[in-house]
Amino acid sequence: MDVPPYCKHFKVHGCHLNSFACKCVVLAFIALILRAVLLPTFHSFGGAEQSKLVFISNLSLSLGHKFGIRKDKFLEVPQIVWGLNNQKIAFARACLTAKFLNRTLLMPSLSASLFYKEVELLEPISFDKVFQFKKFNSLCNGFVQLGEFSDLRNQTGAFELQKGSGRRWTPERDLDQLKQHNEDPYNEFDVIRIIGKNPFLWHDHWPVKDYAKVFECLVLVDEIMNEADKVVSRIRDIGATQVRSQNESPQNGINPAEKPFLQPVPYVAVHMRIEIDWMIHCKKLEQRSNITQICSSKEEIMERMGNIAGLKTPVVVYLAVADSLLHDPSILSGWKEGLIPYEKKKLGLEGTYKKFPYLIQSAIDYEVCLRADVFVGNSFSTFSNLIVLDRTQKLIRMGVTSSCGVDVRWPSYAYNILGEAKGPQRWMTNMSGSSLQAISYGSNDISCCVDP
Ligand SMILES: *[C@@H]1O[C@H](CO)[C@@H](O)[C@H](O)[C@H]1NC(C)=O
Ligand SMILES: *[C@@H]1O[C@H](CO)[C@@H](O)[C@H](O)[C@H]1NC(C)=O
Ligand SMILES: *[C@@H]1O[C@H](CO)[C@@H](O)[C@H](O)[C@H]1NC(C)=O
Ligand SMILES: *[C@@H]1O[C@H](CO)[C@@H](O)[C@H](O)[C@H]1NC(C)=O
Ligand SMILES: *[C@@H]1O[C@H](CO)[C@@H](O)[C@H](O)[C@H]1NC(C)=O
Repeated sequence: MDVPPYCKHFKVHGCHLNSFACKCVVLAFIALILRAVLLPTFHSFGGAEQSKLVFISNLSLSLGHKFGIRKDKFLEVPQIVWGLNNQKIAFARACLTAKFLNRTLLMPSLSASLFYKEVELLEPISFDKVFQFKKFNSLCNGFVQLGEFSDLRNQTGAFELQKGSGRRWTPERDLDQLKQHNEDPYNEFDVIRIIGKNPFLWHDHWPVKDYAKVFECLVLVDEIMNEADKVVSRIRDIGATQVRSQNESPQNGINPAEKPFLQPVPYVAVHMRIEIDWMIHCKKLEQRSNITQICSSKEEIMERMGNIAGLKTPVVVYLAVADSLLHDPSILSGWKEGLIPYEKKKLGLEGTYKKFPYLIQSAIDYEVCLRADVFVGNSFSTFSNLIVLDRTQKLIRMGVTSSCGVDVRWPSYAYNILGEAKGPQRWMTNMSGSSLQAISYGSNDISCCVDP
């Protein structure tokens, strides 16, 4: 179970899709040119410009329908709730459902707070207060599309779709229902409004790659991004001071002036789930699933992180922890020499974070972990899983599809699983999963490579 899965094939597939998309673009382009050339000859007096314009708008409408999303038909979903990452998954699931129905997703409400039992405390927050709306649509253009309620001409034309529930409501039945609502007469309704369960609880029908594509289009608004920048530069500044003071020590003999810091100073981030609520949850999960590798104690995390092969020290370790642990000094002691732990309180940024609601604080922490040179998380945490997925995408873009036994630029690890040399297990997201199951609920079967 502890042996890292061995990846033999590193060829990047998905070429079928690419070349198909490519062909479509080329065909559309040729059609455009042909029409542009032909139209003026058909309407040689007066109306040429006008016809061309109308034609293009007709073409884009039909393209939108055939290759992408109808811009005049919408899907509306219930408010999206719970933690940042459950909300991201729920949002992506809603987008992919809308895509399946060839509809534009009406920009949903997220939730700023974590209360999920008392609905009145859910504090709805508009999607575009957290993520850039226009950027989303431009990055995801042709794949999924977000619309605004002001795009609706007539809201009374909505069809309410109640998703089934209970054990007999299988994924197959759920998909059948969606298929049915992609046909007439439902197809003609301007809006299909799904009522009932929040999208995180819907059945999943979409592959990991599709989710990854939606996540890639989620870019934080500047206000939040700036806060994350501040945290990251504070961590790097502290790191620079630490490295400098070590280099200045007499036995080292290196003049700091000889080693200017051209590169940003690296840091490590660890998503430490050791708060009481999690410990209770993970112990139950271990019993239920008969897996003993879910819960890691503080000591186990510190020990495994001390054994990460090739980690250059001294290095600052950013501890992404629950607020309840910020006043527990024991998380700052017991680290191997050279690993210098900081959390938001010790960084002097607790007050900065406190200004923001829960969702935004989480989004900042997410960004800090995402940008870390080394990330260490728990493979049963959705937060850790989404960070590793994001980092895996980053590596894939650089052409790296395996971190098994080799040094990669942005390695990620799972501390709850024992890896080589008593360190944490190297971790990349297996991109060939047919659903988000492993990522939403966790797994101890993680790989150090992207499956071909
Ligand atoms: C655009 O499409 C509509 C409906 O499909 C059609 O009635 C109209 O004649 C089209 N306009 C042009 C210029 O092709
Ligand atoms: C939705 O779009 C797909 C292609 O993206 C197409 O095959 C399908 O026929 C469309 N369905 C409807 C109901 O328009
Ligand atoms: C809105 O939709 C309803 C039902 O489809 C229809 O009866 C009504 O005339 C529409 N109103 C407008 C202003 O289009
Ligand atoms: C749990 O796992 C252990 C060994 O991994 C096995 O011996 C035991 O039968 C399992 N228990 C259940 C209820 O599956
Ligand atoms: C990745 O996932 C696929 C589908 O679930 C599975 O067949 C494959 O063995 C996995 N690869 C690795 C390296 O874990």
